[in-house]
Amino acid sequence: MNSLGSTILRDDFGRQIRYLRLSVTDRCDMRCSYCLPSIGANFKEPDDWLNYAELLRLVRLFVSYGVSHVRLTGGEPLTRKGLSDFVAQLSALSGLLDISLSTNATRLADKAVELKAAGVNRVNISLDSLKHECFARITGRDCLADVLAGIQAARDAGLEPIKLNMVVQHGVNEDEVEEITQFAVEHSYTLRFIEVMPIGSTGQRTGWVDVTQLVQRLSVRFGLLPDVGLRGPGPARYWRSADGKVSLGTITPMSQHFCATCNRVRLTVDGQLHLCLGDEGQVPLGQMLRAGATDEELVAAVSAGMKRKPERHYFHEAPEKIVRFMASTGG
Ligand code: 5AD
Ligand code: SF4
Repeated sequence: MNSLGSTILRDDFGRQIRYLRLSVTDRCDMRCSYCLPSIGANFKEPDDWLNYAELLRLVRLFVSYGVSHVRLTGGEPLTRKGLSDFVAQLSALSGLLDISLSTNATRLADKAVELKAAGVNRVNISLDSLKHECFARITGRDCLADVLAGIQAARDAGLEPIKLNMVVQHGVNEDEVEEITQFAVEHSYTLRFIEVMPIGSTGQRTGWVDVTQLVQRLSVRFGLLPDVGLRGPGPARYWRSADGKVSLGTITPMSQHFCATCNRVRLTVDGQLHLCLGDEGQVPLGQMLRAGATDEELVAAVSAGMKRKPERHYFHEAPEKIVRFMASTGG
């Protein structure tokens, strides 16, 4: 038990929070059609952004209450200066077992070695297409070559396992799933297929594809078996080759939600704690911190927030509920 009288963060449905997703910026150098609008995204002013010392203080509190995994996300986290130094400070927190990064990899070629040295263990990289034209149409930028160089740099730096995330869109990149699987198999990358969630107008206008059927078909073709063994801290389900080198995964928020095992909360760059991606409930930790709140007061606010973590999302019942864009809370 720590000095504040409790050891863990648990919600009213018995779910323990072990995983913090920390969005270090809401900006991105891409404009994926299901995530950010091509113009007019309402970004936070940098004055609202917590600096790294403030973020570190909040992360330390979460770690002292049982959070063992932190994923750095954005927007695009590598657009924020000084990230590797921040990672090095996080690495020094005892109790924090795993630091991972979600990135679009446009800047990863230059940064992979220093991120690894600072303490990032592993990366998730968005890769929706291997065709330059389709990639540019989805992301708004013709930079597939940079991304592929970034993926290779992650491999060379030992940021393993490397997970590639493909958001599957009917009529856009669905026809590429075999080719991208082949690419993942050749390089022994883990590839996960993701269903689009109706988050922001961008997510709401994009249809989702049931990716379980897709993976079952591919796993037969590539000789993969359902992996019933250990899973990562996230919601993905996996199929693996016998030697364990190749694995395909699904992230199915729409076709089979995984809310019952949710172990995470999200912190935005201005210090708003989001209890659920599918809910607007927030705890303004950043504002409290800047108003001089003590650690005890911050923890009390988090604990009270836990009571408001919803049992599940309502993406089907209320598809227009979430107006913020995914880039503010991170993937
Ligand atoms: N639904 C599902 N995933 C999304 N991402 C962004 N927007 C959405 C959405 N509406 C995910 C992508 C990307 C990561 C950063 O966020 O998987 O890889
Ligand atoms: Fe940027 Fe990721 Fe959103 Fe694409 S999905 S616009 S890379 S934050």
